[in-house]
Amino acid sequence: MTTDFRTPALDALAKTIIPGEHFEFSAETARDRFFNDSRMLVVKQWVHNTFRTNPASMLEHMLGNLALTGTEDLLDLGCGNGFILEGLRPHLADGSITGLDIAPAVLDAARQRLHGTATPCTWIEGSADDLSSLGDDTFDRVMANYMIHYVPDLDRCFAGVRRVMRPGGIFQLTTDRTDRMLEMYQVHFTALRDMNAPEDLFKATPKGRLSLDNGTPQLRAHFEHVQVVTWQDQLRFTDPDPFMRFYEVGHNHCCASSEPDERLDDGFFRELRDRVRAQVTEAITTNGYFAVTKFTGSFLCR
Ligand SMILES: C[S@@+](CC[C@H](N)C(=O)[O-])C[C@H]1O[C@@H](n2cnc3c(N)ncnc32)[C@H](O)[C@@H]1O
Repeated sequence: MTTDFRTPALDALAKTIIPGEHFEFSAETARDRFFNDSRMLVVKQWVHNTFRTNPASMLEHMLGNLALTGTEDLLDLGCGNGFILEGLRPHLADGSITGLDIAPAVLDAARQRLHGTATPCTWIEGSADDLSSLGDDTFDRVMANYMIHYVPDLDRCFAGVRRVMRPGGIFQLTTDRTDRMLEMYQVHFTALRDMNAPEDLFKATPKGRLSLDNGTPQLRAHFEHVQVVTWQDQLRFTDPDPFMRFYEVGHNHCCASSEPDERLDDGFFRELRDRVRAQVTEAITTNGYFAVTKFTGSFLCR
């Protein structure tokens, strides 16, 4: 089975669908709205794991990147509810874990998730661009997975990572290409267009701020070696319900419901969901499943 889901047809479609402008959200919005509980993360983690077709999981991708021997001190910036840390922990039996996150609710969920495990864990509430509480040369591995687009001062963050990382360490920054999950954006934008929705809702993922496509120069300013390791997957849904939870709760209707907007009421989102569901149901009837193709990967910085 191939794990290369990139096709000329998808690449061509991306050019017609993905807008040049992307959404932008502050760290405060992330803390107070998206991650004031674990709901959004739990839905995404469930869908990414349950509906994937790449037999190698994202965790295996990361284990390949991080080359852990078991004794490393690992810092996870924006650790969320500790889902990834839980998977990595057995590979750090004689090492340590430090999880940092700006949102106390998900940080607490991570603390509870790893409570009682033998690997020493430290939990820090704070922003990834202020690592002043951490000493020089303290960590062998630093990760920032799917969170860098929320960090206010990227240069300060990367300079901090460089400082706290020991010589020979690896900084893994995982993010997406802006045309990831193209099929979700296609049904979403089609529905928005049919509803004559406001033009400013037609924006790409907030990860456009530092994506797999544009991140290398920003990282090269701080790290001598920057390598990109890509990872693809395709989610396949044969029932519209799990996709609709992913779209509505996991992605706030492709960000249309991320922040309060008095132009858009409950009726607007009900109609939007109905129109998206109808397209997904039609794809399932025609093709047997609705596919959502992921183009993601990690920068490995040394
Ligand atoms: C999409 S989640 C990713 C969680 C985890 N890294 C994962 O991949 O499962 C983004 C996380 O970044 C956190 N976050 C947002 N802005 C942050 C900041 N400036 N500093 C630290 N964490 C931040 C959020 O609270 C949230 O837990």
